[in-house]
Amino acid sequence: MIKPDACIFDLDGVIVETSDAHFKAWQRLAESLGISFGEEFNEQLKGVSRRKSIEKILAIDDRELPEAEIQRLMDKKNGWYQDAIAELTPDDILEGVPEFLETLQEMEIPLGIGSSSKNAQYIMDYLQLNDTFEVIIDGTKVENTKPDPEVFLKGAKALSADPSNTIVFEDAASGVEAANNGQFISVGVGSEEYLGDADLVIPNFIGLTPEKLFKQLNDN
Ligand code: BG6
Ligand code: MG
Repeated sequence: MIKPDACIFDLDGVIVETSDAHFKAWQRLAESLGISFGEEFNEQLKGVSRRKSIEKILAIDDRELPEAEIQRLMDKKNGWYQDAIAELTPDDILEGVPEFLETLQEMEIPLGIGSSSKNAQYIMDYLQLNDTFEVIIDGTKVENTKPDPEVFLKGAKALSADPSNTIVFEDAASGVEAANNGQFISVGVGSEEYLGDADLVIPNFIGLTPEKLFKQLNDN
């Protein structure tokens, strides 16, 4: 691979640190139901849809609730989460990410967002990143949540990119799996412990250039 057709970025946990706000809101909701979970379980909630997340939380305690109650709980969690993200500004873009994106743009590599979140557009607005990405595929545009590759396949299609020559950046195990399921080149952003199935794992974007990354992928 000399130059990828495109790069598709997950949003939460890759471009901006919203994972903790999701975690706290879900924990608050779970506690109100008498269910508790910690950070390790929370890894399973990363990357998956709101609906799948609440199903996983209720399953901790074999809890079954009527549909209307599930909807009410999801709305409650989303209200808390939206209050938290309303504080976001462009300063919250993770360190190293702006420079990395800027270099990709200079290299004329098309950029996309592939997120499970239905709040992705709000976050993109708060971070003022709409002009940086040609395509935003989010939770409002897909039927199937990660690890299904739908979100990334739609992104690649919109960018006229071949998945096998498109890099997907992901912080969630479900997202790395989705990228692998779609035959993308997967780059895990975070810990090897959870993202070991990725083609390459990087801790973050600090000091990383696209050239360095492409070389590391080539040498793999
Ligand atoms: C993903 C997050 O990006 O979006 C998950 O990693 C979250 O934690 C999912 O559950 C859905 O988000 P939202 O904002 O639609 O509830
Ligand atoms: Mg994520």
